[in-house]
Amino acid sequence: MRLSVITSNPGKVREYERCFEELGVEMVHVKMPYDEVQSSELEEVVRKGMDELKKKKGMSDFIIDDSGLFIGQLGGFPGVWSAYVQKTIGNGGILKLMDGISDRSAVFKCCIGCNLMGKDIIVTGTCGGVILEKGRGTEGFGYDPIFSHDGVRSFAEIPLDEKNLVSHRGIAVGLLKEEIVKCQASEDKP
Ligand code: IMP
Repeated sequence: MRLSVITSNPGKVREYERCFEELGVEMVHVKMPYDEVQSSELEEVVRKGMDELKKKKGMSDFIIDDSGLFIGQLGGFPGVWSAYVQKTIGNGGILKLMDGISDRSAVFKCCIGCNLMGKDIIVTGTCGGVILEKGRGTEGFGYDPIFSHDGVRSFAEIPLDEKNLVSHRGIAVGLLKEEIVKCQASEDKP
């Protein structure tokens, strides 16, 4: 089984490869731009993206995802604007916005859309944690240096395998794996 991972981010492809290795699913990195609708819901962004890829670009058997970091005391910001905020003010800008705020709780969310054998599967994973006072670590990407799931180490300080066990994407991937196993079992039936 082969799935195209449609993203501009090679970090995500590496995470998916690691997660799907045991199911024998081959991941192929495809860079194909598609419209991301403006919505406050990750799931709606993913559903519309899948429709465009299928109907306008003729794609099948693919994965897309949309993730965001939702910070409680910032009213859920950067949320669905996480990619834009990361490119503009970056982690330094988020730390400045959080200056003097003691409740630093935040949630990472990841919504994955998978088109497989003509079926659309959409799952969402979440990971709660805190925004650290300072960025730390060299692993990972994006907001990893300033987010900690255990309040001690940042996501950029833990190995990828450990991150995958607890991260928003890891949880969403776990849910997706269950659905893929069901599809593989129905394919195997005579
Ligand atoms: P996307 O929608 O998955 O591209 O993610 C939106 C933004 O959140 C991007 O700027 C990513 O860098 C960031 N992001 C998504 N997942 C993660 C993660 O696991 N760690 C850190 N940043 C992430």
